[in-house]
Amino acid sequence: MRHEPIDPQLFISNRDRLKRLLLPKSLVVVNANDLVPTNADGLLRPVPNSDLFYLTGVEQEESILLLFPQADDERQREILFLRETSDLIATWEGHKLTKEEAQRVTGIQRIEWLSDFPSLFHRLMCEAEHVYLNSNEHKRAEIVVETREARFVRSVQDRYPLHQYHRLARVMHRLRVVKSPQEVELLRQACQITKAGFERVARFVKPGVNECDVEAEFAHEFIRRRGSFAYSPIIASGANACVLHYLDNRQPCRNGELLLLDVGASYANYNSDLTRTIPVNGRFTRRQRQVYNAVLRVLRAQIAGLTPGKKPQQWQEESEELVAKECVDLGLLRPRDLKVKVSDPMKKPVKKYYMHGCGHPLGLDVHDVGFTTEPFAPGWVMTVEPAIYVKEEGFAVRLENDVLITENGVVDLMADIPIETDEIEELMARR
Ligand code: GLY
Ligand code: MN
Ligand code: MN
Repeated sequence: MRHEPIDPQLFISNRDRLKRLLLPKSLVVVNANDLVPTNADGLLRPVPNSDLFYLTGVEQEESILLLFPQADDERQREILFLRETSDLIATWEGHKLTKEEAQRVTGIQRIEWLSDFPSLFHRLMCEAEHVYLNSNEHKRAEIVVETREARFVRSVQDRYPLHQYHRLARVMHRLRVVKSPQEVELLRQACQITKAGFERVARFVKPGVNECDVEAEFAHEFIRRRGSFAYSPIIASGANACVLHYLDNRQPCRNGELLLLDVGASYANYNSDLTRTIPVNGRFTRRQRQVYNAVLRVLRAQIAGLTPGKKPQQWQEESEELVAKECVDLGLLRPRDLKVKVSDPMKKPVKKYYMHGCGHPLGLDVHDVGFTTEPFAPGWVMTVEPAIYVKEEGFAVRLENDVLITENGVVDLMADIPIETDEIEELMARR
């Protein structure tokens, strides 16, 4: 944990909001993520479980949160279980949370060691009428390994087959999609780190630098500011930008090409997600500027179009229509392509140049939990990321900002990150 301590009031109020959505006499359990093995005895860097973090602020492996708001014994209403440390653990892995530290981080009064979990859990299961267990219900998640949470669910349901089980994920999505002011502040901090990284890179890029040199510049700026990459950075020069998930980042950037940077920082587990497209030599060509400004107009229109009450599907369709019209003006589509009726939306002519979604919720996960079937509402933070991929001309432009939806319009959390072509050229000229 490199970030500054977070006011535990965030986690206290998150738990309060959750409690209000539960059925009477409910028990809730949330587990930490497994440490993920790689090869031999290697492990990936630990990734905190987003739901556990949201409810406690705890990032330590093996932790378990247990909530039973109507437990008869007041001391059993909120309990956090932690891995107990030892001299051996302290020597090899370093410091683990003490009970007092965990109280300060989480605002939870009762902290126990994991060895006490089975007996306490059994006692509370005998008292509970409803049990909320967690799972990853992200629409696009493809989970091929059994997670710690899934193992827990299986063992609990084997042992207590007659309880009434409920999906905690649905409730968590409802809570997490609406960001509190404290969360927005953390998202803003992530955006500020991203801004510093982008401004450094814009002054660094010139013909001959390698995409991996650019990645290294971002890494330096993010890490020294207590952040990290929110996702694997996409640093794609020339035609590489037409590969949506280009991750190789190993080509030299050539004079005259554009460089697409889809790179965001994470701070305190809150993510930002930025895309900028810049000219390698510091000056856009006429054609590059034309396509760039087309994408920028769509970005601006789509940001303004994020109105509470509108459904994501409608926003997506509006976005495709805007890009399609721009593609006609750019000579990429014919006017009659705008009128083509297709039963499969993936077959629309515009999909040749713009084949992905125009944005997604953002928060503790980059593609954050939320509801694609429900209308936008105040408190949602969305990315806005239109693009035009011109494979036949060997380049692409994508732009992406992160914005907050409010009752009184949209707040662009990245409004101060240069985006106009003149601003980009001016910034690059300062190298
Ligand atoms: N960087 C991932 C995305 O834009 O969704
Ligand atoms: Mn992105
Ligand atoms: Mn995105």
